[in-house]
Amino acid sequence: MQNFLQKQDEYRKTFESVLDEYLQGLHLKPEILNESFRYSLQNGGKRIRPVVMFASAQMLGGKPADVANLALALEMIHTYSLIHDDLPAMDNDDYRRGKLTSHKMFGEGQAILAGDALLNEAYSICFEECKKGRTYIGASHLICKNAGAYGMIAGQAADLYFQGNFEAGRAEQEFIVLNKTAKMIMSAVAVPALVYDADENITGMMLEFGKNLGFLFQITDDILDVCGNFASLGKTTGKDATEQKLSAVNVYGMDESIRFADEYRDVCLKILNDLPYESSFMRTLVQMVRKREN
Ligand code: IPE
Ligand code: IPE
Ligand code: MG
Ligand code: MG
Ligand code: MG
Repeated sequence: MQNFLQKQDEYRKTFESVLDEYLQGLHLKPEILNESFRYSLQNGGKRIRPVVMFASAQMLGGKPADVANLALALEMIHTYSLIHDDLPAMDNDDYRRGKLTSHKMFGEGQAILAGDALLNEAYSICFEECKKGRTYIGASHLICKNAGAYGMIAGQAADLYFQGNFEAGRAEQEFIVLNKTAKMIMSAVAVPALVYDADENITGMMLEFGKNLGFLFQITDDILDVCGNFASLGKTTGKDATEQKLSAVNVYGMDESIRFADEYRDVCLKILNDLPYESSFMRTLVQMVRKREN
């Protein structure tokens, strides 16, 4: 466990230094855009997607530096998705990561634009990375695909569409989770496989691992919305019930959701077992995602 925490800390520090360097070179105008852009990016967060991407790179025999800019792009897309997710027109949340949400700080219009700016900058970083060669084009393409109309946006659209719809069931619930959350985590896991040109079988297994980790991550988020607390999570709990979301807990109940989370954890561990790599960090990460309180 000591080794895991040290390594996780190392990955987070690597990420923060890449982010700091990027922000040093950034001079946005007007000042409100400069502020809102930095406010959400520097606002903490677990950085799980960059940590997973770095761990995946190391598992495949590479190093975090090879994918650091793509990790930055992915975290920027994730950050934008949270700003928009919190808007009154979506989940209407006042707190994120223990601080006021972007629209509470800067107003709705500026929050929408901060999100847009993060998304466009992320693509700009991806385009720069494509200069490194063919495999980076494939990796950047995966990030874009999984964040957009065939990924996170589709999941968010379904999340809103099915709000309060009690006819909807498991298929719709799984569509939401796969797209709004798992696709972004699949990118984190599989980007290194594409960058290193791993064979199709390995890339497929990595994607499958990412998908199961993503389901585990979102079901845990849904469980924490009921069982967690503001002090640890930094966001208001109990919202999935009041907003009548198609969350795992609302669809399956708490006991069944916990059972599903355990199942996804076990599938993750099985895939790691089947992969021909040393995966102790990733195995512990899976266990930590299952047990997380923030
Ligand atoms: C929150 O993501 C949104 C979900 C997909 C559940 P995180 O829990 O990774 O949020 P931060 O980045 O740590 O704040
Ligand atoms: C958010 O899911 C997923 C994305 C932002 C894409 P939630 O709406 O459950 O996330 P939280 O609970 O607000 O972090
Ligand atoms: Mg939401
Ligand atoms: Mg939300
Ligand atoms: Mg949630």
